[in-house]
Amino acid sequence: MMAWLSALWGAGEVAIEPASLRDAHRLAQLHGASFHRGWGEGEFEQMLRERNTLVHRLRQGRAIIGFAVSRMAADEAEILSIAVDAKQRGRGLSRNLLLTHLGHLAGRGVRSVFLEVEENNRPARRLYERAGFSVAGRRERYYKQSGGEHLNAVLMRRDLS
Ligand SMILES: CC(C)(COP(=O)(O)OP(=O)(O)OC[C@H]1O[C@@H](n2cnc3c(N)ncnc32)[C@H](O)[C@@H]1OP(=O)(O)O)[C@@H](O)C(=O)NCCC(=O)NCCS
Repeated sequence: MMAWLSALWGAGEVAIEPASLRDAHRLAQLHGASFHRGWGEGEFEQMLRERNTLVHRLRQGRAIIGFAVSRMAADEAEILSIAVDAKQRGRGLSRNLLLTHLGHLAGRGVRSVFLEVEENNRPARRLYERAGFSVAGRRERYYKQSGGEHLNAVLMRRDLS
C-alpha cells in the first residue's frame, strides 16, 4: 500500500527513531496514560536535552504510539520507562522498540543495562525476559499505589556484547 494511503487509513509503517523535543507533549501524554505517576512535558523536554539520556519513539504513520527512555552512566544504563499506546498493545511492537533501543545503547558504549519492573507486570516481565534480561534482585514494597498499597519490584539486568 502506498505510504500516503496507509497513513489515510490510520495505519502506516512502523518506525523506531530518536525522539526530538517536538515529541515531548505526546510522550508525556503516553506516559501519563501508562503509569500511575506520569511525567510532564517539561520532564520529557529536559530528558530530551540531556546528553546522557536516550529516548526513542515508536511511530506508526504519523502517530507516535510508544517510547523507550534510558539514562547512561559510564558503561551502564538504566531503562527508565517504556510504553506502548494501550490501543496498540499485544502486537509485539515493544520488542523491536526495546531491541532497537538496546542496540543504540550498545553503540554508545553501554555494556550492562538495568531496569526495575513491578513484580506482577506480566507483559513487561515477558518483554524483558524475551529480550535477554534476567532477574538480579527484588525490592520489597518498592512502588506505592494511589490507594496506598505497596507493590514489589524486580531488578533485571542484561549485558550487551
Ligand atoms: C509493557 C508494554 C510496553 C508491552 O508492550 P506490547 O507492545 O503490548 O508488548 P507485546 O505485544 O510484545 O507483549 C509482550 C509480551 O507480553 C505478553 N503479554 C501481553 N499481555 C499480557 C498479559 N495480560 N498477561 C501476560 N502476558 C501478556 C505477550 O504475549 C508478549 O509475550 P510473547 O512475546 O511471549 O508473546 C506495554 O504493555 C505497556 O506499555 N504497558 C504499560 C507501561 C509499562 O508497564 N511499561 C513497563 C514498565 S517497566
